[in-house]
Amino acid sequence: MSADDALVAAIERLKRDRNAIVLAHYYQEPEIQDIADFIGDSLELSRKAASTDADVIVFCGVHFMAETAKILSPEKTVVLPDLDAGCSLADDCPADAFADFRAKHPDHVVVSYINCTAAVKAQSDLICTSSNAVDLVQQLPADRPVLFAPDQNLGRWVQRQSGRELTLWPGRCIVHETFSEEALLELKLEHPDAEVIAHPECQEHLLDLADFIGSTSKLLNRTQSSAAETFIVLTEPGILHQMKQRAPGKTLLDVPGVDGCSCNACPYMRLNTLQKLHDCLESLEPAIELEEELRLRALQPIQRMLEMSR
Ligand code: 13P
Ligand code: SF4
Repeated sequence: MSADDALVAAIERLKRDRNAIVLAHYYQEPEIQDIADFIGDSLELSRKAASTDADVIVFCGVHFMAETAKILSPEKTVVLPDLDAGCSLADDCPADAFADFRAKHPDHVVVSYINCTAAVKAQSDLICTSSNAVDLVQQLPADRPVLFAPDQNLGRWVQRQSGRELTLWPGRCIVHETFSEEALLELKLEHPDAEVIAHPECQEHLLDLADFIGSTSKLLNRTQSSAAETFIVLTEPGILHQMKQRAPGKTLLDVPGVDGCSCNACPYMRLNTLQKLHDCLESLEPAIELEEELRLRALQPIQRMLEMSR
């Protein structure tokens, strides 16, 4: 038995002993996805965290995802393999500065992308993810102005899709802002029949070059449902692992960052490893803890999202 096989066997044993479920985002390393009990986008992972009857949730994703799981399932132990697995969007939107921004727009409905801290969620009327943002914004009363935070690229795309004017918080994802337009254009020239599929966190000039835009789950489904044989994928390349399994035989091309760097890989997601997954299952640390008063305030806009999502 190789060292990796032994580690996987130990994780499986611990999962049974702890009555634990391992949830993983599509951006995680393939070996983590392979051991997960459930893989999904942010919305699907939230739903799973709310409905599971496991005692322990091991969240292989980033901090705001694990925190959302804890908000939805406070009675469960929620552990994150590496507590430093953050998100540039959440970091770009400190709660105090957000409170000042809101105070300048007191009549606005506050819609926050799930990629934010509990302290920002607690100041929001409604949470959205990239898979339901357009639909939820369209459901808001037409006479109410809307403030959208923290991702300005997603916000601009939602604005265009929904026809609603949004006041945007200027946050961005360091991963989705790095894709090179030059590299994308070269790939399009080399593969003229390829379909370009993009996550809405990408910059507008790249989204303008895309044939299909959607959340990670929608991009994954697209590689299965589209007749195209080749896809140029403008999102974090961790998702290629599921795409290869669900659309075998199709050609999947990721797009490098500017200057050919591999900064299209999310550095926060990469902090989680199989060894850390094992260790947190064993020690049940680091665990996500939240003050109950904050949790209850952050819960309301998440519940509203789950109720409004079709
Ligand atoms: P999804 O909701 O599409 O999974 O996106 C989450 C994310 O962090 C994208 O960078
Ligand atoms: Fe955050 Fe971007 Fe990483 Fe997604 S890819 S978790 S938005 S830093």
